[in-house]
Amino acid sequence: MTGHLPSSSPSATFPVQRPRRLRATDALRELVAETRLHPRQIVAPLFVREGISVPNPIVSLPGVVQHTRSSLVAEARQLADLGVGALIVFGIPSTKDSIGTNAFQPEGIVQLALGELRQAVGERMVIMADLCVDEYTDHGHCGILDGHGSVDNDATLEVYAKIAVAQARAGAHVVAPSGMMDGQVGAIRAALDAEGFASTSILAYSAKYASGLYGPFREAVSVEIADGGHRQGYQQDWRNAREALVEVQADLAQGADMVMVKPALAYLDVIAAVRAAVDVPVAAYHVSGEYSMIKAAAANGWIDHDAVAMEHLTAIKRAGADIILTYLARWFAEQHRSAQ
Ligand code: PBG
Repeated sequence: MTGHLPSSSPSATFPVQRPRRLRATDALRELVAETRLHPRQIVAPLFVREGISVPNPIVSLPGVVQHTRSSLVAEARQLADLGVGALIVFGIPSTKDSIGTNAFQPEGIVQLALGELRQAVGERMVIMADLCVDEYTDHGHCGILDGHGSVDNDATLEVYAKIAVAQARAGAHVVAPSGMMDGQVGAIRAALDAEGFASTSILAYSAKYASGLYGPFREAVSVEIADGGHRQGYQQDWRNAREALVEVQADLAQGADMVMVKPALAYLDVIAAVRAAVDVPVAAYHVSGEYSMIKAAAANGWIDHDAVAMEHLTAIKRAGADIILTYLARWFAEQHRSAQ
């Protein structure tokens, strides 16, 4: 009965919009769907940990692991076979220090992994590297600290420049600065150009909010911010939307090739505003907490995992994201394949 239109209702006697006509069959719904997501537009975040011999499950991110270098390459090959467009690598070093030295050493875990990934799947996927120091510093901040324990913006830029060059040299197609330092994109662009990496792209985490949704990620990369610290001094205040456009414009002026909004679902307004304001590709990061909430509710039988995951990813695309970073990458590509 639900598929039938009333034939003699008053409204049937004059022209009237009847959107339900186009919802009558699967084929019609597919024909008129405004938003489609493809695995090529998805970026899989992957973790690689120094000094482990078997992959290490991340309890708060069910289904995600800290990889060994060899399991990382195996996973990347499978993602490439599934048609996933890109991956972004995060490293977990076995030793940390005050400036995050291991983030730019040629033998640092991410540099070694990038070289192997470039070799294995570099023709089929875009290889991205998250560019930050929080996984590499003993205090867990995204920058270098001054004598008073605050993040020293300009001292941090020098370290970011070294990391960018090390990642590009190791094989990254794209570097993605996530530390929210002022001037980071310009400093990185200058360093890359000076070292002969003019064709390495920058995906700027431009509008990155100081969100409570990064909790599971901090377990994934074994980061605890010292002295109960937080990142509100550099990441954006989530009460502010217009400020995101200031950040985005600053990053574009400094040479960003693509810009990102992060997290995604609580920031669909920001994604839409950024999409309307710029002509470069816009990425959105569906972050760890967003993933874990789906997994936890589904594990309790409270929501249907596949339905909610698809609805959420599609909403991010509908809001205006061209590219989505998500821990659901593999699941999505498998769904896409089985729907063919
Ligand atoms: C910083 C970085 C973070 C994430 C990506 N890059 C953590 C932070 O800012 O504290 C979070 C990603 C996620 O939650 O999935 N290197």
